[in-house]
Amino acid sequence: MSNLHLIDHPLVQHKLTLMRKKEASTNSFRRLLNELAMLMAYEVTRDMAMQEVEIETPLEKTTAKVIDGKKLVFVSILRAGTGILDGMLTVVPGARVGHIGLYRDPKTLMAVEYYFKMPQAMHDRDVIVVDPMLATGNSAIAAVERIKELRPKSIKFVCLLTCPEGIAAMQAAHPDVPIYTAAIDRQLNEHGYILPGLGDAGDRIFGTK
Ligand code: URA
Repeated sequence: MSNLHLIDHPLVQHKLTLMRKKEASTNSFRRLLNELAMLMAYEVTRDMAMQEVEIETPLEKTTAKVIDGKKLVFVSILRAGTGILDGMLTVVPGARVGHIGLYRDPKTLMAVEYYFKMPQAMHDRDVIVVDPMLATGNSAIAAVERIKELRPKSIKFVCLLTCPEGIAAMQAAHPDVPIYTAAIDRQLNEHGYILPGLGDAGDRIFGTK
């Protein structure tokens, strides 16, 4: 499981616990998700390429390192991915953004695509796909399959929560795509929800239930 990165920083774990509580309001759930996404962005961008630029401090000229945020693309799996996207854009404001609309067929739990919009020149970009829950893995697998058609330089997948079933499915379909998560929960239930989990991430972010 070398492609699996568990982000177990105490701040991440603390905020995730607060989000799991059923009494967390929409407002605090969204704020916590935003904060968590910023912290996770810190981990997932750790190996980002940097370049030297010439600058002038108040004392002298020097060279210093910068990242090229424009080379990075966050791809949000609609609709729950939006919650992570906002936090990540706070710390990498120059990143490009792609959206992929997938819904889970409630009977088959399979992903059905209804929207796909990516930036130009994907072959020159590093992609970070975001979705709070890696549950059955069907949406993540379908999203990564579509993105691979555009041959980006690299792809990573970031979620808040996953489970052994989701990891196994994703690693079987895309062993080359690293998974970053804040927790690996016990199991899926018969409706494809993660246990103990945090419920329906989209409903909790948008207050739709
Ligand atoms: N999607 C969710 O929002 N929650 C789950 O537990 C699984 C998939």
